Amino acid sequence: MSLSFKGHTVVVTGAGGGLGRAYALAYAARGANIVVNDVSKDAAQKVVDEITSKGGKAVVNTNSVADGAAVIQTAIDAFGGVTILINNAGILRDKSLKNITDQEWDIIQLVHLKGAFSCTKAAWPIFRKQKFGRIINTSSAAGLYGNMGQTNYSAAKMGLVAFTKTLAREGVKYNIKANAIAPIAASPMTATVMPPDMLKAVGPEFIAPLVLALTHPEGPDSTGRVYELGAGYVTEIRWERTKGALFRTDDTFTPSAKAASLPPNDAAKPEVRYDGKTVIVTGAGNGLGRAYSHMFAKLGANVVVNDVSEKGAKAVVDEITKAGGKAVAAVASAEDGEGIVKTALDAFGGVHVLIANAGILRDKSFLAMTEKEWDDVIAVHLRATYKCTKACWPIFQKQKYGRIVTTCSTDVMAGATGVHSLFVNRARLSPRRERIAAQGPQKLVRAKPAIRATGSKCARTRNRWVLRACASTIPASPSYTSRARPSLCVRTRSSC
Ligand SMILES: NC(=O)c1ccc[n+]([C@@H]2O[C@H](COP(=O)([O-])OP(=O)(O)OC[C@H]3O[C@@H](n4cnc5c(N)ncnc54)[C@H](O)[C@@H]3O)[C@@H](O)[C@H]2O)c1
Repeated sequence: MSLSFKGHTVVVTGAGGGLGRAYALAYAARGANIVVNDVSKDAAQKVVDEITSKGGKAVVNTNSVADGAAVIQTAIDAFGGVTILINNAGILRDKSLKNITDQEWDIIQLVHLKGAFSCTKAAWPIFRKQKFGRIINTSSAAGLYGNMGQTNYSAAKMGLVAFTKTLAREGVKYNIKANAIAPIAASPMTATVMPPDMLKAVGPEFIAPLVLALTHPEGPDSTGRVYELGAGYVTEIRWERTKGALFRTDDTFTPSAKAASLPPNDAAKPEVRYDGKTVIVTGAGNGLGRAYSHMFAKLGANVVVNDVSEKGAKAVVDEITKAGGKAVAAVASAEDGEGIVKTALDAFGGVHVLIANAGILRDKSFLAMTEKEWDDVIAVHLRATYKCTKACWPIFQKQKYGRIVTTCSTDVMAGATGVHSLFVNRARLSPRRERIAAQGPQKLVRAKPAIRATGSKCARTRNRWVLRACASTIPASPSYTSRARPSLCVRTRSSC
């Protein structure tokens, strides 16, 4: 079947070169009207000239993708609407976590993630009204698996996967389909990172066929999916949950607990302890953060209880100290990574573990979500995790020891209506962990995700599963001495 795009208007962002140019030429050859967006006016104009010289229809738009309304307005002005959006624009600012600047972090999030949000947000009401829309978001292997020197880029790219999955759910009713691709192709972006013979094999024209097929009205029934492709190979990426293990949720459910035996949990010996270690728990004034703080304190750690709520943080510190533990409050947004780490250094002289747990929800359908709600969730979940990790990193590297747990969400893997910004953030944390972990081994710094499903304040708005298994075991007035049961055995037990 020859797929015609006659009557369709396709907006391709970052289409002045590389992959975007290949898409623009391919759609134009099949009759579509094209908006060639790129911040490089010359590059965009060249592509438009190439299309029009062959009898195709195309116009230039030179707005940044961060101004999605202006990008989509060009499609409306030139062609009366938009039916297909290819979020492709991208840049790189590769740096190790130790050397990266806040600006290098923020610009990558702005172009890749906020850019896709902004363009999609402007096209969404049009797609809904006409009951047709196709979106391709451009992820990357760096986002799926992590890559050295790309914490910023990989976090943004994984965020696009979660964004896609949630758009797919909200789009079903309106015949809007969203898929993500992780391409590998020769382009100005990759010209210096791949050897010449490999570049020859991975032309951007080998990515375009899947993109066109996925966005055609009669294309495959695919939405919310992620494809990895290049050099003629196409594969779908899927999440896989391991068999898991079940623990009894009583006093024996400690870091030393060994296996799935009900009841009671068998405990490893010697028990896992955190004596002499300082643990920062963000968003610890309530819910999961409070539970983590208690468990670490009970097992000998000095705990820095961070929360924006002074009342919450101080209450948890009080509970811990009354129970015989050691804790201080760090009342601040978790975005103030430096300040929180300073509190740890001032009070306990060091930091060894970071539990990045702080979170907020701003659940809204994509149509109703404001830019501010998007930004607020990104700031607390993703930027705050970056800032705290960044502040701990040199200390961890110097002492050749560090443990980081960042907090993901089950819905990142599947998407869910009304929570784009949260899941985007949560997903972005996953590859960042991969990236952080990739940079850590030499320094014995480890990063792990924790996917939560709990009875905390955040989860109470949309409990889905495992509430029963995760019911909090922290009593109203804990006493560590009277509940002296040690022991969830983690593989790193010996280095705790
Ligand atoms: N080429 C690969 O192997 C590969 C692998 C994984 C992901 N990607 C992704 O594919 C997309 C295309 O990459 P490419 O390889 O063609 O790179 P490229 O550098 O050739 O193209 C990116 C284009 O985006 C434009 N751009 C940058 N910032 C912009 C902004 N704010 N607004 C509008 N346009 C902007 C650039 O001017 C450039 O023309 C990117 O999102 C990239 O991250 C590429």
